[in-house]
Amino acid sequence: MLRMTKLIDGGLHAEVLTEDTRRRAESFFRRHARKPRLDVILVGDNPASASYVRTKTKMAAEASIDGRLHRMQDEVSPGDLLRVLRSLNEDPNVDGILVQLPLPSDLDPQMVIEVIDPAKDVDAFHPINVGRLFTVNKVDPTVLLVPCTPLGCLLLLRSVIPPAGLTGKSAVVVGRSNIVGSPMARLLTNANCTVTIAHSKTLDLPGLCRTADIVVAAVGRPEFIRGGWIKEGAIILDVGINRVPTPDGKGKIVGDVATAEAIGRAAFLTPVPGGVGRMTVACLLHNTVTAAEMRMKGKSP
Ligand code: GUN
Repeated sequence: MLRMTKLIDGGLHAEVLTEDTRRRAESFFRRHARKPRLDVILVGDNPASASYVRTKTKMAAEASIDGRLHRMQDEVSPGDLLRVLRSLNEDPNVDGILVQLPLPSDLDPQMVIEVIDPAKDVDAFHPINVGRLFTVNKVDPTVLLVPCTPLGCLLLLRSVIPPAGLTGKSAVVVGRSNIVGSPMARLLTNANCTVTIAHSKTLDLPGLCRTADIVVAAVGRPEFIRGGWIKEGAIILDVGINRVPTPDGKGKIVGDVATAEAIGRAAFLTPVPGGVGRMTVACLLHNTVTAAEMRMKGKSP
């Protein structure tokens, strides 16, 4: 039987969160006579990354955050990149530092991440922040830096299900990356879901997905998750942003879920574009103000 599928409006939830962030940023300005500041570093000219960082700095302005973009050549030496990061670490007016990933292949992303001051690590990728996320009892994103995409997914999930409603739900996270899959699984476990992390070696992925009340799709493969894999009434969070060709040559963006097939089966679904992506940027701005507030209070997040 076909059911009504509701699309979760990521743009709307992102606007509400950004408005809250703007209020916090303005209160910070009144207390410290400066705006919270976010410095974004883009190495090279990958067009998708260039577009993401432009959105991040543009949206920063809407939240009363001083967003600055540093562009570096593809062939920048590790030493030069590390020098820039160290000077941002030491600058008391810088609250958030983000290095856009992926990096060119001769730069080691883990080494770069570990140079960033954990108190300014608004991506929450530094091992100190990863460790905190995995060891705190209560995940409170106003005093803890939580990776932006999983935090956005959790907030969207909470917008369609009451907190107690997550208890005991089965969740399948497809993808085990440090950026999305792994922290997402932690957030869901912390919210009392029973979580399975699936990946490219998982056996019978369609069968596993069919058992899930909640599916988070973070594989980076266009429309990989088919409608027939979705349990009736499930909640589907689609993290994918994949550009695919179209006959008119313009191309289009699709998610990791075959949305047209999922409609009529899922209860709730995040569209692509207009779903998780919008929340990711809003969460980055939220984290920037959290980092600023915590550092000024002398409590590193
Ligand atoms: N590339 C894709 N997603 C992200 C993210 O959340 N942070 C950074 N720094 N780079 C990314």
